[in-house]
Amino acid sequence: MREKERISLLRKELAKHNHAYYVLNTPYISDFEFDKLLKELEKLEAKYPEFNDINSPTQRVGSGLSDGFITVPHKYRMLSLGNTYSEEDLHDFDNRLRKHTDQEFEYICELKYDGVSISLTYENGELVKALTRGDGTQGDDVTVNVRTIKSIPLKLKGDYPKTFEIRGEIFLPIFGLELINSQRLLEGLEPYSNTRNTASSSLKLLDSNEVANRPLDCYFFYLLGENLPTNKHYKNLRKAKEWGFKIPDEIEKKTSINEVLGFINKWDKKRYDLPYEIDGIVIKVNDINMQQEMGFTSKIPRWAISYKFQAEQVSTRLNKITYQVGRTGAITPVANLEPIKLAGTIVKRASLHNAGQIERLDIREGDIVYVEKGGEIIPKVVKVELKARDLFAPSTIFIKKCPECNTELVKKDGDAKHYCPNFEDCPPQIVGRFEHFISRKAMNIDGLGVETVELLLKENLISDISDLYLLKKEQILPLERMADKSADNLINGIEKSKKIPFERVLFGFGIRFVGETVAKILAEYFNNIDALMNANIETLITIDEIGDKIAESVFEYFSHQKNIELIRKLKSSGLQFISTIKDTSLSSKLEGMKIVVSGVFIQYSRSELKKMIEEHGGKNVSSISKNTTFVLAGNNMGPSKKKKAVDLNVPLINENEFLLKIS
Ligand code: IVH
Repeated sequence: MREKERISLLRKELAKHNHAYYVLNTPYISDFEFDKLLKELEKLEAKYPEFNDINSPTQRVGSGLSDGFITVPHKYRMLSLGNTYSEEDLHDFDNRLRKHTDQEFEYICELKYDGVSISLTYENGELVKALTRGDGTQGDDVTVNVRTIKSIPLKLKGDYPKTFEIRGEIFLPIFGLELINSQRLLEGLEPYSNTRNTASSSLKLLDSNEVANRPLDCYFFYLLGENLPTNKHYKNLRKAKEWGFKIPDEIEKKTSINEVLGFINKWDKKRYDLPYEIDGIVIKVNDINMQQEMGFTSKIPRWAISYKFQAEQVSTRLNKITYQVGRTGAITPVANLEPIKLAGTIVKRASLHNAGQIERLDIREGDIVYVEKGGEIIPKVVKVELKARDLFAPSTIFIKKCPECNTELVKKDGDAKHYCPNFEDCPPQIVGRFEHFISRKAMNIDGLGVETVELLLKENLISDISDLYLLKKEQILPLERMADKSADNLINGIEKSKKIPFERVLFGFGIRFVGETVAKILAEYFNNIDALMNANIETLITIDEIGDKIAESVFEYFSHQKNIELIRKLKSSGLQFISTIKDTSLSSKLEGMKIVVSGVFIQYSRSELKKMIEEHGGKNVSSISKNTTFVLAGNNMGPSKKKKAVDLNVPLINENEFLLKIS
């Protein structure tokens, strides 16, 4: 049929021009001609809806409103990168890698784009899914919005793998922010302050037609899948460029860390000439086999790192030092500043971290100080302008007593912070514990905010978190500003939280050093609270990713009678204390064994083998020690690893021997 062929031809033509314009920056037809072809296609598509295709170039204008985004699990976890800020840190990174291998290897240096991460899935050469990072395990499906970003190919060309994922950064070029802001000013709206937040909020707009009007762009830097074209990162990106992806030209291959430093210094200066913002450099090992051997910690790859450029600094007057008490009793000194604009926002307060920091920088009230924004939301004071100091300014004496409850502060050796030990009665600690417990990532209790917690505490309706589950509607109705509906909401929210999985309950306890990831690891390993409560430090530290500090903190938490009692009460209220993290075990043939997988395998990929180890009750560990049961060794296993195994008498077994073990 002629119309069908015409539609297909127009789609191909338009995709080619899109690519030339948005990816290659070299258009070869005018906007007018492009629009003419687009209009023709729109007309034909309207007339022949049977040939509809969601990846047609006409879809770039958006497809209307959506109700929200659904959360979808990532096939491969979406991790972030470790940060470094100095030459020394980079040498450490290089030394760690060189300890692992005696062979020479290459680094790939890339720019670190400052936007939002995105993971795209392509099947048979078509975009099928776009997920945000979310919590790394699952992200929001923003495919409808991503389809409107013109530099993202909807259909690929060339010899692409059947299925693969590609990750990149969606960002707003500087001119894009200016464009949006000039429009907003005309409409009498407040301008947006920075490109990153604007890119992030644009991607989450519910109206994809509106997203289509935001000049978002996307660079790609990471290819994942079972059938990648080569085992070199650099070559794979070159390939991805042939398929139609926008791959940055600034990527360079380096053979030593000194060469990497040269690349960093070059871009530290040149970054201001770029049409978009970058916040650092990413350094990656080029060889994918080596990447797989190095693997990941629970949060970051060991084979890549980011070097962050110095953040913008401004100077202002420090008017007063005050002290904040956190939920763990930690005291944070805070600099109250003469308000000043920094990286797009007005800053009034900055963290002074701890007593040591005040002493090291000799920070005093009245000083002119330099403030910068690091990765954290709260800016920090980094330097004092000593020349501008008042001769008579008294040096700062760190408080001795808690500013909230007047208890004498304590400081343990090896810990930089002072603590208020009045765990039970210090008000911000009590409120802080509630605040953490009810927060979104923990129990996510709808209808309960900090003000209500404070009110409930004031009225003696609650004293610890278990009391929340005993609250009755009649008790809360008389509270200030509490209407019938909000009382219902609160009671329902509390009731609903009883279904929250064990790992989030555990995270909600606010045990020091037990963040979301550690809580998950503990819940998965022990399966239930009783086993965790009975674990001693030795058992805890055998778990991958659990070090001394965490083990001691967990052990200490469960050695307090008060906490045991709290858990007993929560149990009787019906909270979840047994893990529902999927039990995928097939046998216990590898029970108690600690196994290192190293090298390249023939029948299965390394990740498949690791999965099998877990399914049969074994534990994957990353480095060989005397406690390793055996090394599952493939081809090209690093010689230093091999030597270590032999020296420590750890047996090496091959893929076939392993498969026999579990069969
Ligand atoms: S590689 C496993 N390369 O930075 C490694 N990330 O802080 C995956 N980013 O989540 C990331 N530019 O959103 C990589 N050239 C680059 C990058 C880059 C920006 C972002 C990315 C990532 C975050 C990590």
